[in-house]
Amino acid sequence: MPLAETAALVAAAAAERRAVAAFNIITLEHAEAVVAGAEAAGAPVILQISENAVKYRYGRVRPLARAAAEAAAVADVPVALHLDHVTSDPLLRAAAGAGFSSVMYDASHLPYEENLSATRAAAAWAHRNGLWVEAELGEVGGKNGAPPLDAHAPGARTEPEEARAFVEESGVDALAVAIGSAHAMTTRTASLDHGLLARLAGTLDVPLVLHGSSGVPDAELAAAVSGGIAKVNIGTALNLAMTGAIRTYLAANADAVDSRAYLSAGRLAMVDTVTALIGVLRAEDPVPAVD
Ligand code: G3H
Ligand code: ZN
Repeated sequence: MPLAETAALVAAAAAERRAVAAFNIITLEHAEAVVAGAEAAGAPVILQISENAVKYRYGRVRPLARAAAEAAAVADVPVALHLDHVTSDPLLRAAAGAGFSSVMYDASHLPYEENLSATRAAAAWAHRNGLWVEAELGEVGGKNGAPPLDAHAPGARTEPEEARAFVEESGVDALAVAIGSAHAMTTRTASLDHGLLARLAGTLDVPLVLHGSSGVPDAELAAAVSGGIAKVNIGTALNLAMTGAIRTYLAANADAVDSRAYLSAGRLAMVDTVTALIGVLRAEDPVPAVD
């Protein structure tokens, strides 16, 4: 099936009061596992490549993007390609024509006015080039090895009226909101501010995105979807699954040499993680929102 578009997948999920899962990929095994896991769940999915993943790939976005696009093209379910956490304008410009239908432009580390002005310019360029745009207001902590933000730190929570103005003035299509999750958590212990999510959902008329979802327990994820989150970004959970399975395999097979043996174990573990998480986001009877 041809590459799907992020805009359509997010809109369809929002209309059903569900969320589409967006998984961060680093290797071809990640992409294959996400596609296989989504096929097993019978659900659409988004493959996303972060600026950090591009840095890991020697600064080149196209090799992984083209591999992911090919993996998407042979999938039995709709799969879209998204460029994630872009802070560099040259990378933003590389998104056009590389198979991406959307981009997350991340200027959330900047003061409000600078975030707005940079995001407005990025969104205008992206729209002229046919890309759906997500931005972030309030900062979801834990990026690039930083510790999670204290709940009371400035910017640790997205303020609804400020967010309304930001969306209107920047022209973005979706907003990543800071409601208590943090990037790169290796335990699922985050607790979300569902009251704030309800106020954001009632104030904003664009889809809301949850980042740092690996650290959010299933019940909290389901409640966030009930509360209006339409796109759920997941990265670390895949790496936990992959690395754990490879570690186990190599511990049991100390003489292993063929990388396919342990990469297969890692990929299989990621497939299971993807299928399970998509199941949480698409549950027919999601957990009611809690305050
Ligand atoms: O944009 C990517 C996500 O926010 C991934 O966060 O690695 O903590 O799941 P995570
Ligand atoms: Zn993120």
